[in-house]
This record gives sequence, structure tokens and C-alpha cells, in this order.
Amino acid sequence: MCQNHNASPLTIQSTVASVPTQRPLRVGLLGLGTVGGGTYRVLRRNAQLIADRAGRRIEISMVAVRDMERVVAVVDDDVMLTDDPFQVVQHPDLDVIVESIGGTTIARELVLLSIAAGKHVVTANKALLALHGTEIFSAARAQGVMVAYEGAVAVSIPIIKALREGLTANRINWVAGIINGTTNFILSEMKSNGLDFDTALQEAQRKGYAEQDPAFDVDGIDAAHKLALLASNAFGIPLQFGCVHVEGIRAVEQRDVEFAKRLGFAIKLLGIAQRTADGISLRVQPALIPSDNLLAHVQGSMNAVMVHSDAAGLTMYYGAGAGAEQTASAVIADLVDVSRFMDIAHQHRVPYLAFQESAMAPQAMIASADVCSSYYLRIDLRSGAQGLPELDQLLCNAGVQLVQKELLAHQDTPDAPTVLLLTAPGPQDKIDELIAAIELQAGVVGAVKLMRVEYLN
Ligand code: HSE
Repeated sequence: MCQNHNASPLTIQSTVASVPTQRPLRVGLLGLGTVGGGTYRVLRRNAQLIADRAGRRIEISMVAVRDMERVVAVVDDDVMLTDDPFQVVQHPDLDVIVESIGGTTIARELVLLSIAAGKHVVTANKALLALHGTEIFSAARAQGVMVAYEGAVAVSIPIIKALREGLTANRINWVAGIINGTTNFILSEMKSNGLDFDTALQEAQRKGYAEQDPAFDVDGIDAAHKLALLASNAFGIPLQFGCVHVEGIRAVEQRDVEFAKRLGFAIKLLGIAQRTADGISLRVQPALIPSDNLLAHVQGSMNAVMVHSDAAGLTMYYGAGAGAEQTASAVIADLVDVSRFMDIAHQHRVPYLAFQESAMAPQAMIASADVCSSYYLRIDLRSGAQGLPELDQLLCNAGVQLVQKELLAHQDTPDAPTVLLLTAPGPQDKIDELIAAIELQAGVVGAVKLMRVEYLN
């Protein structure tokens, strides 16, 4: 039962001045598109709140845009505007440059020039860092400046901070994530609304998730850029985008999504960085995951990352994987970090890739085909076939064990059944041998469809 204590009203006296006393952090912004525009907007809207946390105001002092006419009405009068980004990176009054022009050519040049000029850099450009991160971090180390990139991976999710700082006590075993919003939207549409890949892609383009040329997203390259960054932070290995096995989702058919669902799985494009006894595997692949796994419930353009580590165990991080203000949230968090740490000695700051430079070392990398896992096989049979009687012998010959076998018909081809197999974990070379033998059988039509099953446990 509640009691009335007749408590007298509390008198709250503010003892902390809410106006920061340090001089503002002066920011030069390259580009005022999605990321730059979002950053400008959120910084202006939440200026006082951010200053209360950072201990100083964070001010956009200079902006470079291609078309100054277009933005002149948008930016405040006291912001210097230019159409020459090289003027910004060399301006003596700026502390930090936010690179939000994208790409890997001019962006690389501008970032390196900023560093050479002694400026800290914040970027959400994962392609730039995946391809040129080693060079950029090395230049930044020599100059004693920060390069922060929280927005480069799963924008709204502070996963770089989680790996670099929150999980710093842990030996990380694996990181697995849905780290591309566009492909997750497409696969979600295929599952929930029965769309085929092309129609779902058009829908993603209509909603602004997918670019007109969707290759970076649907072919897995964007996710591979992000995975390379995650892997370095998780394992202390140099950035190795070239070691990521990359497969996109173009070959995922609507009926595979449907069959997987009937077997109790969802198909997701996963980025996995995994430590095994033989080395590290980096792979971006569409894979079946059990429907009751939390990652299977990540729908639409949302992202999520699971990290398995020795002390914390399994942790998971979820949030929007794209969007102007969602990326701004990460970019501004980086600016606040710059503000907090710019006056301390470089060796006491958080290392770029979580590990001290002297402790970073290459480790053996293993090919995706050498990672044992379970597999999903779809075998299309000729019209009127009752099954594949040779299957048991073929499985025995290849040394592959099954955990499930189903004979199903799809509504589009009711007379031509399909055999679905889920194998026990094993090496891919045995599966390849099995598939080659199956495809030689007279009752089998076309190529056998193969996808990994990832149980993530
Ligand atoms: N194209 C990216 C995605 C945007 O779909 O996830 C954020 O990196």
C-alpha cells in the first residue's frame, strides 16, 4: 500500500553552469548532401544539448558544396561557403574536417591533405577506409590526429565504439551482422510480400534505399567494406578488404526464400568475421538462419550486429542502417569524441582500429570454402518425378550427412518436385563433390542451388 510521506517539495539548485567555457570546436564540412546535410541539421537543432555533453560548442564554420546557390539559403550567415573543398582542408582556423563527399579518389586526397594540415577527420565513408584505411591511419598517426568513422558501419549503431571500447576486455570469437539495409529490405520484401528479386529491387529504388546502379549493395560490396572494418577492430588484423569472400543476393530466388521459410529459416545477407582454429574467415554471403534467431527478425532496411566474445558472451546491437540523421548521429558522436580527446596526447587516445599499432598483426586467413558449416541444397527434378532414388548412395559416396530432407512442390511448377536437403556441418569440398554427382543424374534439372546455413550459436 502506498503511503503519503507528506514530503516537502525538493529544492533543486543547479551547481553546474550549462554554458560551456571552452572555445568552440571549429568544423569544416565537405559536402552538404545526405550525410553532410543531416549533420548540419542535427548539430543546429541539438546545439545546446551537444555542447552540454561535449563541454564546448561544436560549430560548422565552413562548408564546401558544388552548387553554392542551392544551399545559400540553408546555411547560417556566419558559415563560410565555398565551392572549393581544398580551401576548407587548408583553412588555418578549422580543427576538424567532416568528409561527406563520398567516393575514394577526391575524398582520399582531401582526407590526406586534411591530415597533413594537422586536422582531425571524421568520415562515414566505408569504401574509403576499407580501401585506403591503412594509408590514412598511418598518415594520421604520424601527424598525431584522430580519424573517426563510427558512421561508416551500420550508421546509427555505435558498433565501432562497442568493439573498440565497450568490449575491450574480450577475446572476440566472431562478429556476424546484417550490415546492408538495402539488401535486407529486398530480402524482407521477398519473404513478407512474396516479391521476386527484381520487383523487390525496384521497390527499394522507389523508396530511395537502392541506388539507380544498385551493384554496391546487392552484390555485397558495401557489406564487405563494413566487414573489413569490423574485423580489424575485432581481431587486431590489418584492414584486408581483398580477403573478404563476397557474394550478393542477385541469385536468391523467391522460391528459395519460400522454401527456407517452410523449413524454419530466413535468408539474410550476412557479413561474418570469424576466428577459427585454422585462421580468420571473412565472408559476405546470403545464408539461411533459424527463424527464432534474433537476426531473422531484423526487417526492412534495419541493421543488426551480433558479437560473440569470451567474457561478455553474446551481445547484439540493432538500429537503422541508413538515413541522413541516423548517420549524423554517428558523425556528431565522433565530433564530440574529437572535442573531448583533441587536447590529450595521441598515444592516450583510443586507437584507430581498437588495438595499439604495435600490437596489430596479420593472422592466417582462410578461404570461405574451408569453413565448415551446414548447407541448404535445392535440387529441381523433372516433371512427374517421384523423388531422387540415387540420393542415399550419392550422400554415402561423398561422405555427407543429412539433418533434413524434404520433397516439395512449388506452386509455379506443381508437377516438378524439388528435393531440399539440409546437411550436417562439414567441409564444402564434400558438398561440391555431392553436387557434381547429383547434377549428373537423369532426373535432375539444371544446377543444384547451394547456400550456407548459419546457426550463429
Ligand atoms: N547503402 C547502404 C545500405 C547505406 O543499404 O546499407 C548505408 O551504408
